[in-house]
Amino acid sequence: MTAADLGPDLPLSARPVPVRSVGLPADDLDSAVTAFMTASPVTRRWDVEHDFDWAAADANRLTEGQRSAVQFITFIEDHLPGYFALYGSRFPLDADVDLETFLVNREVYHFTVRWAQEEDSHARALFRYQVESGIAQASSLRRELAAEGRKRFSLPHEHPAALFAYTLVQEKATQIYYQNLRAVVGDPVLADVLGRLSRDEARHFTFMADMVEAYLRRYGDAVVEPMREAIAQFRMPLADTLKGYWRWALRIADTARYDHTEAYDHLVRVVRRAVDAPSDRVDELERFVRACRVLPTAAAPH
Ligand SMILES: [Fe+2]
Ligand SMILES: [Fe+2]
Repeated sequence: MTAADLGPDLPLSARPVPVRSVGLPADDLDSAVTAFMTASPVTRRWDVEHDFDWAAADANRLTEGQRSAVQFITFIEDHLPGYFALYGSRFPLDADVDLETFLVNREVYHFTVRWAQEEDSHARALFRYQVESGIAQASSLRRELAAEGRKRFSLPHEHPAALFAYTLVQEKATQIYYQNLRAVVGDPVLADVLGRLSRDEARHFTFMADMVEAYLRRYGDAVVEPMREAIAQFRMPLADTLKGYWRWALRIADTARYDHTEAYDHLVRVVRRAVDAPSDRVDELERFVRACRVLPTAAAPH
């Protein structure tokens, strides 16, 4: 479908999945993007070069597990080109899409390009920390990251609402993990880095929550199933491609509490907030999410 199909004649729940369009009116997107930009004025932004005391970075103050956690999250953050390309391919901005589709995809691009810039700073901050603290040498780390970074990142979800629900969980899970890791690390420079990163992830989560709410308000029950699928098939990024992912995941959970299902509760809260009178489908989604929440996971804390 194209964004032009968002006309008034057909109930939204009866319309096909907008595969290449973000599928929301430009005004809704503009509100979510403006709220995101408002939450990060220039005065509150940070940069890798000026906001950390790199000369004081010292990996000798970290445990083996904490070093391992830093290496792991560097891989995850460094995969940004793959994540960004996915948004570009899902919401194209070229001559292959009609004007209405381009118009709404362009609105989301305002977010993705800023979001990408922030995530790229996360990758650069962690790279710099590894080098300055003595965890790694720049040339070998660069090569290791490239070997993983060139692997393709894909997601099974077709529906854009599922993509945003997936990212909502992922951003919240990352935020919680960085906070937990920050509380235990022995190097204050690393704690500063993790503090900056977790605050950014919190803002990314808020944008994703606004998007999920917008889909629920516009499409109602029709987006509940795609969201359920996003949870049912949930895998953290790189779970299928990063060498030794599950061994790493267990180790990082040993170091600081890590449980992505904690983020599911946040999704339920967003859904509840968006719907005035929860339908059976929404109730069902909530039950499903709660059931997922108590399932033991490979990366659950010990
Ligand atoms: Fe990040
Ligand atoms: Fe993020």
